Amino acid sequence: LGRVVDFSAELSSTNDRAKELARQGALHGLTVLASRQQAGRGRLQRQWESPAGGLWMSVVLRPNLSLADASKITLAASVAIVDTLQELFELSIGIKWPNDLIYKGQKLAGILGEVVGEWNTVQTLILGIGVNGNFPREQLNNTFPATTLQEILGFDIDLNLLAAKILENLERELIFLEEKKFDEMRSKWTKRAIGLGEGVRIFRGEDVIEGVFKGISIDGALILETGNEEVTFSAGEIKLRSK
Ligand code: BTN
Repeated sequence: LGRVVDFSAELSSTNDRAKELARQGALHGLTVLASRQQAGRGRLQRQWESPAGGLWMSVVLRPNLSLADASKITLAASVAIVDTLQELFELSIGIKWPNDLIYKGQKLAGILGEVVGEWNTVQTLILGIGVNGNFPREQLNNTFPATTLQEILGFDIDLNLLAAKILENLERELIFLEEKKFDEMRSKWTKRAIGLGEGVRIFRGEDVIEGVFKGISIDGALILETGNEEVTFSAGEIKLRSK
């Protein structure tokens, strides 16, 4: 991953640029980077603030996996980022299902996976990764609590090194998934999961479902225990909140 890089000073969204390049035939691993995004996107149609100094990156993935594996790939990306921040800066990052990377209750990074075309025919996933890097949190007008590496570490980091390490770790996790070794990734993910074994609320449209967060299923869905049954939810349209 990341052997070919498409870099721009400014883009609307690196995911959109990566999609365009994928439609033009970009190969597995092509990585799009931008210093700033004017219209960065988050999950659930939210906007993602992307000032200069952050890592705004999208990878074209054409893995040997099926559509059902798309959410596993985004979970693997969370693990890759968590491992990277541990290795480079000894930071302990938690994961809020499915892919919010949290430091002391504040969001540090997020992941947006988008399938291009018919997965069954072209098998392309655009994996967007955003890490709040070298800027103060005041530059974010988010409604949710957020932090940045600059705030946490007190110095500016090398964004190229960060990107390279994340891609290296992601490449390893993807190979595990292709070899059907889901459990190794799942156990790493689970060790960092926020709220595991605790009461949570799931918001799906107008519905609110309460239960105990039991873990993630073999296909990467969230397992919720309600009463005496277990229900699973895929990442698509839900929000998770601690009670
Ligand atoms: C989220 O937590 O809601 C996901 C945030 C994903 C942000 C990244 S930044 C690079 C890529 N381009 C985008 O427009 N979004 C993703």
